[in-house]
Amino acid sequence: VPYGIVGQGLKEVTRRVPLDEPPPLPENAKLKSIGKPVTRLDAVEKVTGKARYTFDVQLPGMLWAKWVASPLPHARIKSVDTSAAERAPGVRAVHVLERLLSTAKLRDPKAEQSQRYPTIRYAGQPIAAVAADTPRAAEAAAKLIRVEYEPLPHVTEIEAAMKENAPRVFPGPTEQPATAGGGGAPPGLPQKGNVRGPDTKPRGMGPRGDVEQGFRESDVIIEAEFRTQVQTHVPMEPHGLVADWRDEGLTLYASTQYVGSVRDEAAENFDLPKNKVRVICDFTGGGFGAKYGIGNYGLLAIHLSRKARLPVRMMLDRREEHVSGGNRPNSIQRLKLGAKRDGSLTALQLQAHGSGGVAGGAGVGFAHSTLYACPNVRVEQYDVFTNAGPCAAFRAPGQVQGIFSLEQAIDELAERIGMDPLALRSKIDVSGTDDSLARAQERRIGAERFGWNKRRPAGSDKGPIKRGIGFAQSQWLYLVHLNTACEVRVSGDGSVEAFSSTQDIGTGTRTVLAQVVAEEFGLRPEDIGARVGDSRYPMGPASGGSRVTSSLTPAARNAAYRCARELANRLARVLEANAEDIAFADGKVVVKGQASKTLPFREAVKKAGFEEISQRAERRDDYEGFAASMRDMGISKHGIGGVQFAEVAVDTETGIVKVERVVAVHDCGRPINPKLTESQIYGGVIQGVSYALYEERHLDSASGLQLNANVDQYKIVGSREVPQIEVHLLEQLGGQSSTDARGVAEPANVATAAAVANAFYNATGKRIRTLPMTPANVL
Ligand code: MOS
Repeated sequence: VPYGIVGQGLKEVTRRVPLDEPPPLPENAKLKSIGKPVTRLDAVEKVTGKARYTFDVQLPGMLWAKWVASPLPHARIKSVDTSAAERAPGVRAVHVLERLLSTAKLRDPKAEQSQRYPTIRYAGQPIAAVAADTPRAAEAAAKLIRVEYEPLPHVTEIEAAMKENAPRVFPGPTEQPATAGGGGAPPGLPQKGNVRGPDTKPRGMGPRGDVEQGFRESDVIIEAEFRTQVQTHVPMEPHGLVADWRDEGLTLYASTQYVGSVRDEAAENFDLPKNKVRVICDFTGGGFGAKYGIGNYGLLAIHLSRKARLPVRMMLDRREEHVSGGNRPNSIQRLKLGAKRDGSLTALQLQAHGSGGVAGGAGVGFAHSTLYACPNVRVEQYDVFTNAGPCAAFRAPGQVQGIFSLEQAIDELAERIGMDPLALRSKIDVSGTDDSLARAQERRIGAERFGWNKRRPAGSDKGPIKRGIGFAQSQWLYLVHLNTACEVRVSGDGSVEAFSSTQDIGTGTRTVLAQVVAEEFGLRPEDIGARVGDSRYPMGPASGGSRVTSSLTPAARNAAYRCARELANRLARVLEANAEDIAFADGKVVVKGQASKTLPFREAVKKAGFEEISQRAERRDDYEGFAASMRDMGISKHGIGGVQFAEVAVDTETGIVKVERVVAVHDCGRPINPKLTESQIYGGVIQGVSYALYEERHLDSASGLQLNANVDQYKIVGSREVPQIEVHLLEQLGGQSSTDARGVAEPANVATAAAVANAFYNATGKRIRTLPMTPANVL
């Protein structure tokens, strides 16, 4: 079945190198800076606390803001009295929200036109905020805001919300709830009660064949229900920004995954031209997919700053972050798989319900429609609305949940037909694509490194501690941030800088940027001033969709190449040489065949006698023969992915599961910095173990309040629970851009929970179909 990640009917793309682009790079071994495991240039700044995160921003006269959130999960606001708060000591401004940002599309226009305040749909929904001279004054004043509510019946649990008589989260019949989940549910789906769907086209991949016929043709049927939990966003630095409204323009210091979206959303909501909004983000303390735009906290901070005419800092606290900062939706997945005795799939059917609280986009079926060759596939995805905080994209949205069910079902099928799970994947992988070729190599490398041949039959251990090993595949999209730009500048003193608005989410953006630019000038990465995190620089990529390195580095290399060419032209005059004979290597300018003219880089530039030269370039793609919709979304014809092997020890008396070892083999195009690339994969595995074993939001269904909105009771993996992780990178050169870089961040998180679950089965002989694998779910 000719069915790859990007769909059917796409022609092979032959990349043409435009004239102003550098020639393809040789292998990393032949390079001086690219491909080297350089330690982060800002490592010392980070570990010594000198790096300025948004959380650390202090401006003269800055006010501290605190919001007031609803304690009720569903209510109409009858009145808001801010008079006492306004009179409280130290208070400079109070603002009451008349509309919400993230759920603006959720409102039923007819029902709410006459309402002064947005309807409360989850406990923790912001209502108003105060700005005061000190954090304590803000907190005290926020408590003085009096809100009168008319409570409405609520529902917080997915299954309760699916019942016919359940309270309606959105009463109107014509509403179009927002898709914040990143699962890509299209608008216009039918809705019945709180259930919207079915969406039968996960990420645009429609059904195919006839599943009933496929099941009739099968020899083996695997059928099971899988459940995954709500995982909240817990980045080290919570959401927040500092807004500074002045006559000359608005400056925002934002903890964000995309400077561009903060600027654009602020401009749109406050009717400002984009050139009057500047966004600065020196460092982002992590973000899993929810840090885009200004958020309701930002909306409030900007209003308050405009009123007070002073900078206003609004950072969410940990509780607010858990409740309103976004989450990975839960899922209930009913999966049915039909296969022939030789393993070939005849039919695959998934019915998946997920609840993203007051937001939609909980779909999980993309892997089911694309990962394996199967002629008959039908996926039905449903969003179930509940009175709970909105979901948001979360590291490989949908895919983590989907792979958990799919890869366990494939594991089960392998056992039923008496086939090795890896051999079964080789049989059913979509054949002939780059992705399936990569997966096959990765399975081979991983099996050897991990010792897959030592696998024993399920439940082999006799004692209470049972050990086992398991395997799962990862799959994600290779996305590109279209029109990513970068500027490279050489100053007259020989210093070199590179500029991009993109932010460092924590992955080392400055370092890879410097490495790529250094290569073209024959300099060291530390010689390059890598400037990021400012919307005044050429617009760089979002830290989302695993695409910063794959989008930024080609733009940077293209700009550096042009700038180096221009520098060569300038030097040719003063060195009396041909520009084509001038090269940059080892910190020097060398002229071919004229050793006596060799000069240190800085000295040579000074000699050229210019003030500065600079070049700007974009990431260029040749999308010829590519489906327009794919091109517009910046999706490459390749996917990105990998494989993971896990070893677990299950204590069958206490129900404690320990992941002891993970071997992760991932494709990455060209690793620009293998140390940072591997680091991404460590992070993905660690977050995957955390999701598999511990993380879970607990809502009290009576009150709608989250019971564990803190980091004590919302358990995240700790250093003692991190397994031994071995990472192997599969390089693929000659890719789609001038650096061949591809993303790794999201796929690294996709396979872990499924691999752990398959290892759990191999250890115990029992399937664990419910996450997280806490003692309560295990025993
Ligand atoms: Mo994301 S979940 O790629 O921001």
